[in-house]
Amino acid sequence: MCYAIPGRVEAMDERFVTVDYFGEKKRAINELSDLRIGDYIYAQGGYVIQALPEQEARSILSVWKETFFELQEMDLQLSRLDMKDRGVDKKTLRLLDKAAESRPLSGEELYHLLNLENDHERSMLYKTANFLRRKHLGNSCCVHGIIEFSSYCPRNCFYCGISAHNNKLARYRMTDEEIYAAVDEAVEKHGFQALVLQSGEDPEFPAPRLAGIICEIKLRHPCLIFISVGEIGIDGLRELYDAGARGVLLRFETSNPELYQTLHPGYSLDSRIAHLKAAYEMGYLIITGGLIGVPGQTKRDMLNDILLARELHSEMYSFGPFIPHPGTPLADKTVAPVEQILNTLAAARIADPDNAKILVTTSFETADPEAREKGLMAGANSVMLNVTPERFRECYEIYPNRAHLHESIPVQIETTLNLLRGLGRAPTDLGV
Ligand code: 5AD
Repeated sequence: MCYAIPGRVEAMDERFVTVDYFGEKKRAINELSDLRIGDYIYAQGGYVIQALPEQEARSILSVWKETFFELQEMDLQLSRLDMKDRGVDKKTLRLLDKAAESRPLSGEELYHLLNLENDHERSMLYKTANFLRRKHLGNSCCVHGIIEFSSYCPRNCFYCGISAHNNKLARYRMTDEEIYAAVDEAVEKHGFQALVLQSGEDPEFPAPRLAGIICEIKLRHPCLIFISVGEIGIDGLRELYDAGARGVLLRFETSNPELYQTLHPGYSLDSRIAHLKAAYEMGYLIITGGLIGVPGQTKRDMLNDILLARELHSEMYSFGPFIPHPGTPLADKTVAPVEQILNTLAAARIADPDNAKILVTTSFETADPEAREKGLMAGANSVMLNVTPERFRECYEIYPNRAHLHESIPVQIETTLNLLRGLGRAPTDLGV
């Protein structure tokens, strides 16, 4: 099972290599000391993660060649932009034209698009976002795996089902061996090349223990590791980077400092942002974003969330709807309409057309069973599959009835690949 096809190293300069995929060139950071021009490699998230023998690479590529071009052609057909101005007001049309030309939009212009309400205009917005996605990033779609290794958390985030105030939840903590087994299965059996290790801020997993786990994983497998363990501290971030982690998934949740304070009593947005900035400076790939429709959020906040994610150099934007959890203070609140979620993904694409990976989150999939297809056709190009062992998943209840909760890994992979194929997308992550 391959999530990334091999590419051939065409050129090397300092930290970067240029990789050829059937004539398409991508750049990636190389940390392998013995890499040479002509070698075949796998890249993930813009990092070379593994070299592979030429013969093996050629045989994989020969299987892929036809499919590769077929998928691209299908994507091209599906992402054509046909700007008919029926029912679209002049201002909207002008802004969408400007976006389609990849000219930067001002905050006010993005705000206008983010808040489109007319169905026809929205459909044009999604098409423009999808057009831009293909124009700048092609048909590749990231498929990362996520392992949720501990549901213990001392924090009190108002929206979150695993935060400390939910005393009804049965908690679990995987052992180091259980984590390695889950990683082995994801990488060896299912072919994942990028994994997110996620947990609450569990004091039983301080940075040195996490660093040991990451080192062991890196010894076992060439894969890209993202950590998602909350605020581990700046020193902690450094320790985990040195151990081999190369990505951080840490949402700032909301860009509004007062709202942040309300939702996280005793904690500050500044500290969150300081982590994200420090992580970026250290060289981490950043995945960040926030909650869509969390109580107290205004439309302005939503725009500022997108702008903050961009300012923080997100390589992947993670915006998903708030879903009320019965064991939290926000139990009786409601989920944002699907259109608001899609408008957010599309506006994020337009705000960062040529760089962003935009995730269709599991929370969106929980709110709407067709979220993946809708999101991928509105500017998104990323999904995450839950590769946590099934026996633990139920207890990682950040919100109820999570999509795919009871789906085995092979079933998730099959449905994902079928969907991607149907949309002309290649389940690959081919670098920067
Ligand atoms: N609804 C949607 N997303 C949630 N998260 C936590 N609780 C909820 C909820 N009720 C998200 C947070 C966190 C991520 C791990 O899960 O944004 O960053």
